Amino acid sequence: MGIKVSRFGKTKDGKEVSIFTLMNGNGMGIEVTNYGATLVAVTTQDRNGRFDDVVLGYDDVTDYMDNDGYFGATIGRNGNRIGGAQVTINGTVYEIDKNEKGNNLHSGFQGFDKVLWDAEMLTDETGMRFSYHSPDMDQGFPGNFDVTVTYTLTEDNEVKIHYQGEADKDTIANLTNHTYFNLAGQGKGAILDHQMWIDADAFTVIDEESIPTGELRAVKGTPMDFMEPKVIGNDIDADYEQLRVAGGYDHNFVLNNQDGTIRKCAVVSEDTTGRVLEVFSDCIGIQFYTGNYITKRSGKDGEMYDKCGGFCLETQFYPDHNHHENFPSAVLKAGDQYETTTIYKFSVRK
Ligand code: BGC
Repeated sequence: MGIKVSRFGKTKDGKEVSIFTLMNGNGMGIEVTNYGATLVAVTTQDRNGRFDDVVLGYDDVTDYMDNDGYFGATIGRNGNRIGGAQVTINGTVYEIDKNEKGNNLHSGFQGFDKVLWDAEMLTDETGMRFSYHSPDMDQGFPGNFDVTVTYTLTEDNEVKIHYQGEADKDTIANLTNHTYFNLAGQGKGAILDHQMWIDADAFTVIDEESIPTGELRAVKGTPMDFMEPKVIGNDIDADYEQLRVAGGYDHNFVLNNQDGTIRKCAVVSEDTTGRVLEVFSDCIGIQFYTGNYITKRSGKDGEMYDKCGGFCLETQFYPDHNHHENFPSAVLKAGDQYETTTIYKFSVRK
């Protein structure tokens, strides 16, 4: 396959950041950087053989340092929100960053998205492995946590993200990837005409601060129902309190078939290009976020992004998992292996 390494700028403390370009035999390419173990680009064919980059991002690492939208980033140790910015592990309360209305979003001010990871090419050159040592009490979480994120590009046009980690104390491990996709091409307007299917009968209801209340609500008969493929924009403006509080979709879907195996969780398609994205994962939840809080900004290749310019499908435990007995725990026991896989697979429909 062959991996190209290029310079991507420097961190604030002068460390060189690299960007790694991988290409498969079909001409599909991805770019990843060791800053935030971030997915920077996915270039894939449409039904006429035209290649476009279908993920939102930036041309220079300095924009990723300021990346308030977490474009393409690896999020950890904990993806999504934790109410009151506190977690309790074995009866001890740990304070974590209050970075959103007194709550915690995506782990804090210097999460895994804002650090430089060690980079290593897989020996068969099909992927890149990023490693990070998160020290005891990093962001307020207990235990030294050694973690790797491996991106592989397969000949089946899959971007495979494999997470693996181990801690020396009981801690929270709930990583995710925060890529915004636009199957028409990055910068090509809103994603409201994309079709979405999510294999979830229920979602986690949120309060005005987007923190789960603990209620799992059936999607059936609500605008949250994606059990049959539905155009995202169809119901997004419905007079439904859950959509109003989040300004669109920004909810965790409770995935069906939670047996720990990797299964198909979501399918997205875009009619004008014929591009299809299938998401496979062993995770129990998926945050479907329609980029409601993207403010006007310029991204890669001078393209402009705005509200709903991309959607995220973030695989994970349910948000605020630490505070609801009916939500599975994201506590990783000391010495146990944290291991999870999510695959974004691209194809075209004629
Ligand atoms: C959250 C959004 C948040 C965004 C930040 C998403 O994972 O669900 O509420 O605004 O991350 O970019």
